[in-house]
Amino acid sequence: MSIHLTETARRRTFAIISHPDAGKTTLTEKLLLFGGAIQMAGSVKSRKAARHATSDWMALEKERGISVTSSVMQFPYEDRIVNLLDTPGHADFSEDTYRVLTAVDSALMVIDVAKGVEDRTIKLMEVCRMRDTPVMTFINKLDREGRSPIDLLDEVESVLKIACAPITWPVGMGSRLKGVYHLLDDEVHLFESGKNFTRQDSTILKLDDPTLESRIGAEALRELRDELELVRGASHPFDHAEYLAGKQTPVFFGSAVNNFGVQLLLDFFVAHAPAPKGHATQSRLVQATEDKMSGFVFKIQANMDPNHRDRVAFMRICSGHYEQGMKAFQVRTGKDVKFSNALTFMASDREIVERAYPGDVIGLHNHGTISIGDTFTEGEPIVFTGIPNFAPELFRRARLKDPLKMKQLTKGLAQLSEEGATQFFKPIMSNDLILGAVGTLQFDVVAYRLKDEYGVDCLFENVQVATARWIVCTDEKKLQEFKDKQAMNLAHDAAGLLVYIAPTRVNLQLTQERWPDVQFHATREHA
Ligand code: G4P
Repeated sequence: MSIHLTETARRRTFAIISHPDAGKTTLTEKLLLFGGAIQMAGSVKSRKAARHATSDWMALEKERGISVTSSVMQFPYEDRIVNLLDTPGHADFSEDTYRVLTAVDSALMVIDVAKGVEDRTIKLMEVCRMRDTPVMTFINKLDREGRSPIDLLDEVESVLKIACAPITWPVGMGSRLKGVYHLLDDEVHLFESGKNFTRQDSTILKLDDPTLESRIGAEALRELRDELELVRGASHPFDHAEYLAGKQTPVFFGSAVNNFGVQLLLDFFVAHAPAPKGHATQSRLVQATEDKMSGFVFKIQANMDPNHRDRVAFMRICSGHYEQGMKAFQVRTGKDVKFSNALTFMASDREIVERAYPGDVIGLHNHGTISIGDTFTEGEPIVFTGIPNFAPELFRRARLKDPLKMKQLTKGLAQLSEEGATQFFKPIMSNDLILGAVGTLQFDVVAYRLKDEYGVDCLFENVQVATARWIVCTDEKKLQEFKDKQAMNLAHDAAGLLVYIAPTRVNLQLTQERWPDVQFHATREHA
């Protein structure tokens, strides 16, 4: 097999989805420890500090400081290369999460044993279902008293509409936690408080081992046997094809903070999770096994690292391979771009990637020329589809405290809007700067970041804009007429595209009726 095919087959690219506080960060840390990416202690600590910050957006800001290490975490495990893509925690930033989920081949859902299925879990699973993403489930915090495991599986099945195939099963819970039983290997892994549960360090006994009763107690053993009978009768046996089709989720129980049950999950994950899959473009399906490089940008982050003050575009490789210094064709602009120093984000340091394969994510330095959704190829004009774009629903006018900072403000708004969470508009007829966003929190975040990163003090005040539409008109004459007559409500976005900013929805409707030759697109990608 060629290096390209072997390397592709080794890749496992996934994201962890969970409701905040279920244990995503803790589990990530344990997975990285198993992968030997050891410089995590610092970043987990910063996350914790972030949680204790005074407000959500301050927390976000602090989190950003460590996102350089946590956006993409690559680690080797067994003979695999695992890419773990971070999803932002805050609900207002869920568009980001949706886009990250377009760049993974599978997901790991973390559920709190006491809380069960929560709001965010439901939303995230909806996204996974749309794409038939295979999902494994980890039910966390077994060291605490929680709900009955059978209840939890019922809830996952009925609320999330996915069949459960338990792979491990708890032996007790909370203070009575004795271990987990591996249904496929027929082994009980004992929970011994304070121990580090690597494969070598765990005590593992077969279910019929005569010493088991003395280790976990007669009652716990009897309970386990009863439950197993019930589980074996009532639940689905693991079916690899069903899992790969996104119809069945293998379920594990454990305690991330105690590192208990985590390696069982990881072992199963690298054995069964899918290698990089094909990706749809507007014209054809691109297979990961194809020789020519292709990839798409699913995330852009500005000023990630105060020491570098740059913007990074994250690209998932879909086929072929990336090689340092290669030229790639940016389909949207029709230009060739040289990838001289793409980044990878192993541990806490930036390193220059020499080669990257399908499933890997590389960071491209971006000076405003790369947009979310961009496709890069070795020349073929294909465009990957399915990267969601969200139309802004809220609009505010930026008001500067120091009018001399106009240039910095314009630059800051334009650069921050590249990240995709906000959009920025310059009305043709005025000197206003208008920002559109999906959630109100984003205005606070932008104001904070403008001050912190660009030294600009500004407020966001209400403005009479209800919605925005990107304008396309193939008839030059009609377009000019439209521009002349509607100049009051026209603006340019950060990329210079023409946008109709409607004061009310009724106004939009009337304008659309009046100008049948003009197309009004709800998102920029389709303009
Ligand atoms: P998140 O990223 O999904 O938001 O969750 P995170 O890992 O930050 O975990 C949320 C809280 O749950 C943390 O507690 C963490 O320590 C705790 N936790 C994670 N896994 C387990 C587990 O297996 N058992 C128990 N009992 N707790 C767990 P915290 O109070 O916010 O912080 P800390 O000071 O306790 O660490």
